[in-house]
Amino acid sequence: MSARDDLAASMAASMDAEPELLPHLHRLFVGLEDLGCQAEEVLAVLDGQGLPAEASVLDLGCGKGAVAIALASKYGSRVLGIDGMAEFLKHARAGARDQGIEASCSFRLADLREVAKQEGEHDLVCLLALGDVLGDLQSTLAHLRQCVKPGGLILIDDAYLDPARATATDLADIDCPEQAEVRAQLCSHGDKILAERIIDGPESRQQYLSMLDAMEKPAQALAEELPELSTSIQDFVSRQRAETELLLGPVVGALWLLQRVD
Ligand SMILES: C[S@@+](CC[C@H](N)C(=O)[O-])C[C@H]1O[C@@H](n2cnc3c(N)ncnc32)[C@H](O)[C@@H]1O
Repeated sequence: MSARDDLAASMAASMDAEPELLPHLHRLFVGLEDLGCQAEEVLAVLDGQGLPAEASVLDLGCGKGAVAIALASKYGSRVLGIDGMAEFLKHARAGARDQGIEASCSFRLADLREVAKQEGEHDLVCLLALGDVLGDLQSTLAHLRQCVKPGGLILIDDAYLDPARATATDLADIDCPEQAEVRAQLCSHGDKILAERIIDGPESRQQYLSMLDAMEKPAQALAEELPELSTSIQDFVSRQRAETELLLGPVVGALWLLQRVD
C-alpha cells in the first residue's frame, strides 16, 4: 500500500468510514466544529492542572481545530495541529484567523503517525477521538509520552464498559475493557493520572445525539448527489448511530489527563 493510501485508510478508519468516502467526508461533518471530543470538556479537564501559560501543545488529529483554538484562546497556548484532511485544516486556519489567534495556532497537513515517532519537547500532547491509530493503548501511550518533555502532560480520550449498565448479551458481545483496566493500561509506562473526566451527564448525552442529527441531512444530500456511494453513506450513518447507542448505554466515554513520569 502506498503511503498516501495508508494515510487515507487511517483517516477513514478514525472516522469509521469506508476509504471511498474520504474525499467527501468533510461534507458529512459540515455542521460540526468538534468532530469527536468537545473542546469544552478539554478545557474542563485541564482546569487547575497547571498547564503553563503559552504552553507548547501538539494536537495530533486536530480535525477542524476546535481544541487547538480553545487552548490558544483560553491559555495563550502555542498549538501545532496535525491532520491529514486538507479541508479540515482550511476550516481550522479560518477559525483561528476569525478569533485573531492565528499567531498562536499553526496547522500542518501530515500523517500524525510520523509526527508521533519524532521526539518532541511539548508541554502537552492531545490525541482525541482517534481510536487505535497509534496501536493499542499501551503503544499509543509509548508514542505520546515521547512527544512531551519529562513532566509534560498527555490528554487522551477512550471508553470503557460499565458492567452495571450492561446486559449479559452486552458483556458477551462488546469488546471493551472496564474502567480499572483502562486506567491500568494508561499507567503502564509509569505515568500518573492527574484527572479523569467522565463524559456521561445529560448534556453529554444530548451532545452525542446532536452530533448524530447534524450528520443526517448532509448524508442524505450526499447520497442523492452520489448514488454510487449511497450504500457506504448509509453504512457510515448506521455505524455512527450504533456507536451513539453504545455511548447512551453500557459504554462510557472519558477523557484522561496524564503526567509523564520518568
Ligand atoms: C474523529 S476525528 C477527531 C478530530 C478531533 N481530534 C476532534 O476531537 O474533534 C479524527 C481526525 O483524525 C484525522 N486523522 C486520522 N488518522 C490520521 C493520520 N494518520 N494522520 C493525520 N490525521 C489523521 C482525521 O483526518 C480526522 O480529522
